[in-house]
Parts: sequence; C-alpha cells; structure tokens
Amino acid sequence: MSGFGRDGSGRATLGGRLLSELRAEAGVGTPAYFYDLDAITQATRELVAAFGAAPGFVAYAVKANTAGSIVRAVAQAGGGADVVSGGELAVALGAGVGPERIVMSGVAKQDWELDRAIGHGIRAIQLESVEEIPRVAARALAVGKAARVSLRINPDVAIDSHAHIATGHDEAKFGIVARDLPAAFGEVARAGAALRLDGLSTHVGSMLTTPGPYLESARVVCAAARELRASGQELAFVDFGGGFGIDYGGAPVEPPPAFVRAALRLLPEQGLADLALAIEPGRSLVAPFGVLVASVVQSKTSGSRRWCMIDAGMNDLLRPALYGARHRIEPIEHAPSSPEWQVVGPVCESADDFGLHALGPDLPQAVALRDAGAYGFTMASEYNGRALPAEVFVAGGRVAHVSRSPGVEAWVERRLGA
Ligand code: LLP
Repeated sequence: MSGFGRDGSGRATLGGRLLSELRAEAGVGTPAYFYDLDAITQATRELVAAFGAAPGFVAYAVKANTAGSIVRAVAQAGGGADVVSGGELAVALGAGVGPERIVMSGVAKQDWELDRAIGHGIRAIQLESVEEIPRVAARALAVGKAARVSLRINPDVAIDSHAHIATGHDEAKFGIVARDLPAAFGEVARAGAALRLDGLSTHVGSMLTTPGPYLESARVVCAAARELRASGQELAFVDFGGGFGIDYGGAPVEPPPAFVRAALRLLPEQGLADLALAIEPGRSLVAPFGVLVASVVQSKTSGSRRWCMIDAGMNDLLRPALYGARHRIEPIEHAPSSPEWQVVGPVCESADDFGLHALGPDLPQAVALRDAGAYGFTMASEYNGRALPAEVFVAGGRVAHVSRSPGVEAWVERRLGA
C-alpha cells in the first residue's frame, strides 16, 4: 500500500507520484484533496481476504468518504457499504454496491429513507431503538415488501477514544441496551411478516487501537444471539461494526485484518460458528491514503511566536477543531525540518488551528495535511463564505479523475439568491 511518501530527494509523493506533478496534471488550485485509489483498493482486498473462506462481508462506512470513485473502488475490491442516510444509500447503489451487501444504520431514519432501503431490499436496516421497530414495520407494509432488519445492540462498553466518537456506552443515543432487548424481541415478533430479523449488530466507537474493546462488545452481541436462538429465532449474521484506528503519527495500531481474524476466532468460541460476519470499517480503508494540499498564504511572527497561515481551514478539515485531532503537516517540496510553526487556517475562529509543525526556516509554498482521506471532505462546509475543496483521484500512477471545487462565485450566487 502506498498513500503519502517521499522520493529520494525528499519531495512528497502520493501513490508513488510527485504531488507537485499530480497538482499540475490535475489542474486544480488549493485547497485540494488527493487520494490514492490503488491503496484503497488494496486495503479493501486485504480486509476481504482476511475472511478466508468464512462467510461475511466488509460494509465500508461510506460516511468516511462518499466520493463515487472511492465507493466504486471499494465495491470492485469486493466491499459492501454501511450507509446512514438516503443520500449515502443512493451513492452506494449508484457506485455498484449490491443491495445484498448494504446495511443502513442511523437513529432517526426518515420514512422516505426507510422506504428506499426496503424497496431495494438491502441486507439489513439496523434498528436502533425499541420504538423504531413498529415504525419500520409500518413502512414495510406501506411499501408492500418485508424489511430485512437487524437489531443494533448498545454493548455498554467504554472505549479509550475521544468522547465524540465513542458510541457504545449506555448513555449514547445509539443502539438498544441489554435491558431493553426483551422488549425489542417482543416488538419484532408483533411485527410478524413485515420484518425479517436476520442479524444482530453493534458499533462500539472509532479509533480503536487494539481488538480488546471490539471483542468485548462482540461478546455482548454473541450472548444476545445465543439467547435469541434459544427462543427459536433464526439468525444469519452478526455485525460487529467498524472503528479500526489508524496511526496519525502517534502510536502504531493493530492492522484491520487482525480485528477480523480475532472476530472470526470468537464466533466458534461463542458457539456461533455458522453465522456470517459483517464489519463496518470506514477510516482505516481511506484515511491514510488521502492528503489535503494547501498553499501557504501568510506568515506572521510576534515575539517568539511563529504562525503559518494556510488556505485550508477548519471548514475543509474539521477534525482538529472538533476533536483536537492532530494531522501531520509537511512541506511538499522538502522533508520536514525545524523550526516549528503554528499552522492555522483562514477561518475566523480560534479553533481553526492545526498545531505546531516543522516547516523549516523558510516557509514552503505548499504543504500536505496527512491522513485526511476519511472524515475530511465529508465533514467540510462553506463556513466563512468558502467554497468546498477540489478532490483529485489518483490510480495507476496518474490522475484518474478530478472533482473540481464549485468555486466561490457559485457560493456568492447561491447566497445572494437566498
Ligand atoms: N459503523 C457505524 C454504525 C458508525 O457509526 C461508524 C462511525 C462506523 C461504522 C465507521 O467507523 P470507523 O471505522 O470509521 O471508525 N468523524 C469522526 C469519526 C466518526 C465516526 C462515526 N461513526 C472522526 O473524524 O474521527
């Protein structure tokens, strides 16, 4: 796999090509995201291969990056999709993901979204509350087709991650906690033929560095699966969710296939060897293989402080402002060197700050914000009257596709017309 690298002279590369050349070839300005599609394909293939002959599928969490080029690459490598909206469902289907490999999560699915999911016969609508169950059953009757569903279990497992991305503790809005499962089973039974309960699922949170908490939450799902089977209910699969972390330049993390192998070992241990396994990785399939390229606009020194102002801001990459996340920022034309500069964006918020980075005695013209392939573009906004960034997709060592920025003029026109 590749993603960001450096050539023998220290110049930044992506997918083995000089980023400066890719920029020229794509003909885009900055800020712009660049993605290595080949690496995304390879990461997906590795994860699919980790299943060996075991039944199951990789449901790529499309929210990490919804670009058609990426979802298509994942689908062609054998991946499916975990979607959380009608919009994401349409992208997954349009990118060639078969309904048999699509699951839909979300605590507030709207009627039109449920109707589409039911209409397309996706593998599972993941039910996130007892109250949601009769509502989905009613939509199934309205659509005239049984809805295939799974119950998303809140495992009440705390993880060592940022509070905003921990989802599996019992105060989270996600999933059904153990004490409410009997009520949920009852609701499913009452729905009769409108619902076909096929599986149990969970998602404990994001940025897991070891399989420990993943397996802990998986065991809760397995216990519920055994209980449900004992009551006579048939089940076809369990879905242990996503959340595999990546190394943002801090500490190394266990690679995603290690999570899959551990999960596959767990099933026979739990007496559930015949169940298929679904997983929902988002970040790990795309984050390391994307960079955000920005231009240096302005420097400022004041006393001992040294600022580097770039043309990418929190509206382009929100993670540092929202989660205090650190993305390595490096010069494009040469390797990092001291001194460090406080890198900030143009947005009028003090949170628009990317931290200290070694950019050298003379500021470079352009920098790369690394590991930005996931939750970068998908969380971007037009705050402060800024256009959404461009996206460049690299495959086979060349620019395969460019999605241009809509441009500031388009923004101005829309706002004047509002
Ligand atoms: N499945 C469900 C039900 C989820 O809620 C999520 C992520 C995933 C799978 C994929 O998790 P992943 O493998 O990407 O960790 N914006 C945050 C991450 C939010 C994740 C929300 N749910 C960030 O930038 O760190």
